[in-house]
Amino acid sequence: MSTKIHERAESESGDPERGTERRAMTSDGPEVVVEREEGGVAVLFFDSPGKKVNTLSSKSMAELESQLRVLSQDDTVQALVLASRKPGCFVAGAEIGEIRDIVDPGRGAEMAAKGQAVFSLLEDLPFPTVAAIHGVCLGGGAELALACKLRVAGEGDSFKMGFPEVNLGILPAFGGTYRLPRLIGLVQSLDLLLGGKTVDARKALRMGFVDRVAPERGLLAAALEVARKAARDPKKIPRLPRFRARGMQRFLDGTAIGRSLVLSTARKKVLSKTHGHYPAPLAILDVLPRLLRLPREKGMALEAETLGRLVVTDVSKSLIGIFFLNEEAKKVGAKGASSHLSRVGVIGAGVMGAGIASLFVRRGLTVRLVDVAAEAMGRGLAAIRSEIEARVKRRSMKRFEAEAALARTAPSTRLSDMACAPFVVEAAVESLEIKRKLVKDLGSFRKEPLIFATNTSSIPLSEIAEGAPSHVTVVGMHFFNPVERMPLVEVMEAGATRIEGNEPGEAAQIVLDLARRMGKVPILVADRPGFLVNRILSPYLSEAVRLVCEGASIENVDRLMTDFGMPMGPLRLLDEVGLDVARHVSSVLDKGAQNPFKRLIEALVEKKRTGKKSGRGFYVHGKGKKKPEPDAELRALVASLFGLADGTTGPDDDEITSRLLLSLVNEAARCLEEGIVRTPGELDLAMILGTGFPPFRGGLLRHADTVGLRSVADGLRALEARYGERFRPCPFLGTLASDGKTFFGHSR
Ligand code: NAI
Repeated sequence: MSTKIHERAESESGDPERGTERRAMTSDGPEVVVEREEGGVAVLFFDSPGKKVNTLSSKSMAELESQLRVLSQDDTVQALVLASRKPGCFVAGAEIGEIRDIVDPGRGAEMAAKGQAVFSLLEDLPFPTVAAIHGVCLGGGAELALACKLRVAGEGDSFKMGFPEVNLGILPAFGGTYRLPRLIGLVQSLDLLLGGKTVDARKALRMGFVDRVAPERGLLAAALEVARKAARDPKKIPRLPRFRARGMQRFLDGTAIGRSLVLSTARKKVLSKTHGHYPAPLAILDVLPRLLRLPREKGMALEAETLGRLVVTDVSKSLIGIFFLNEEAKKVGAKGASSHLSRVGVIGAGVMGAGIASLFVRRGLTVRLVDVAAEAMGRGLAAIRSEIEARVKRRSMKRFEAEAALARTAPSTRLSDMACAPFVVEAAVESLEIKRKLVKDLGSFRKEPLIFATNTSSIPLSEIAEGAPSHVTVVGMHFFNPVERMPLVEVMEAGATRIEGNEPGEAAQIVLDLARRMGKVPILVADRPGFLVNRILSPYLSEAVRLVCEGASIENVDRLMTDFGMPMGPLRLLDEVGLDVARHVSSVLDKGAQNPFKRLIEALVEKKRTGKKSGRGFYVHGKGKKKPEPDAELRALVASLFGLADGTTGPDDDEITSRLLLSLVNEAARCLEEGIVRTPGELDLAMILGTGFPPFRGGLLRHADTVGLRSVADGLRALEARYGERFRPCPFLGTLASDGKTFFGHSR
């Protein structure tokens, strides 16, 4: 049955290197080719030359359109299969660079309408059409599949289908928002469109998103079989997809009251998560029920008009900017530098060590985990198990994968058991003495080269590396808490106190690559106290405490920052981090300085009020999911320490907001000035991924650029006049402002 064409396509999709190698040399040539199979079946292959993934650009869409026009006129064609020759990818989505460049809503709507017209052409072909989907099938790729009459998914590890458009501040607008609810119903569509989530092949089948699942290696054969069968009996194939609700779905999807319940619940959820800062999910909630009632032409027009409106918003431009920052970050360091590592060591089974070990074993590494305290080890192992079990429950991990991951965890209380590991991450307590001793002891147990990566949050690496044996290289691999959820890893080289243009050394390359293999985003930063993120946060947290010492209320300080878009206010953050830890970090960053921050934090720590872990800090933390309440007794403590008169309310909202945000911007500018990080883009990405700085603002420095650096510098000078030199604009910021420039290098 099979012919050479599909044998070749399958052998290529089974070998990740060959397909790309063949066309990687050139970016010329067609992106879409049609080949003929036996029995009147045509196969349309996507294969963007010179690229790792297929994207829908103006060029590939024009080629697709002309191929579809030819096929529609060809009487010999009985059925069409759409497939990809790229390993691990069907179609990754629309070309985001082209979306970024749109500044006019009319132009945006026009671009969407063009794409819709091509996909409608596909939908209207007079014979069965089958999408043979393997690997990544996202955004425009999933919309393309929706315009086919049938979809076959090739089951494999890389299979991913969904609509990430909402993460770029837009909605699917090549007909996807119109077609999806007709195929899988309103409830499931909302789940996919609002969350930007992706599903695997089995889930796609359960949802009705695809019609059949086949093993990836036999995908094309399976799709051809489906196409031939459909060609023999075309009446059985619906012209338009039709959703058939079952069980509870019948009520929620099939009745007006059910739909209105679903929409109002989804709206509440969106608002509580986004505080209304993101227009795209609200627009999706608004248009989806309307699209369900409209005929295709009118529905498509509404979808295109909505895209045009969203794509020009500052939010969408910010989110697209972050997408490109992420892409840039992926390019730093040598790919594959850590591929020799399959066994690693983790020291410390506490909060961070257990999190790091769990990440490593989940991602396929074997981990020797060492803690000096057997009890701490017990807790660490229990934490690893419970995190992995939670994934099985959420179905993001299969039972056998969970068991295999747990079996890769080898606990011990003896450091000497780690001698066989060429790479060790240290997450023992934050003590220079202990960390130095670990370097020395490990160096004596192991005579071969060893990379000692420390997770210290504040101690300069050069101090930890002092006296290290010559075969031990100390590097920084600074994860954020909780490891499971925070995507950022700061990577440092001992003694590199400025990041210049030079390529990092071998050990840092290995850490960068390993972090990426573990699914994290690594950023190279200088070996200076607090590194990058903690350093920028430090004056901001300190200012928040000063405000409380001046009489501002805890809830107001925190509310102003969550209103700005931060995931939590600075005082809640201090409670989460632990006031004892914050005290320690501040002693490293701000040696010897005396200020209200230190006095209040010292007093709280002395009273064993260390934040969430002790149940009390700035907030009283109840058990379980109860929302923490600001601690009413704190006011009396502040009054006694700082002689605050009754009824003092502290500065007004505008001043609180300026003092907090300008502290962040000024410190970030200092970090750029001192070469702590290479580019403003990397700094912005680090703040978004490490602190949750609101993505819709595009990043801390991008936001300052938007506000205007002259106004930022003027604001700082006004505060300096009242509160002293901590608000003096750093020279770099002052110069940019007076030259009318921005952090990102544009003139204003
Ligand atoms: P933790 O107190 O929860 O865990 C530390 C563990 O190290 C304990 O189980 C302890 O028994 C063990 N330990 C102490 N000395 C040891 C030794 N000589 N050999 C083996 N194990 C030893 O501390 P946590 O929070 O996990 O922090 C660990 C490191 O990670 C610190 O350097 C900290 O600064 C850093 N870090 C912490 C973050 C946080 O939010 N907790 C965030 C980022 C970094």
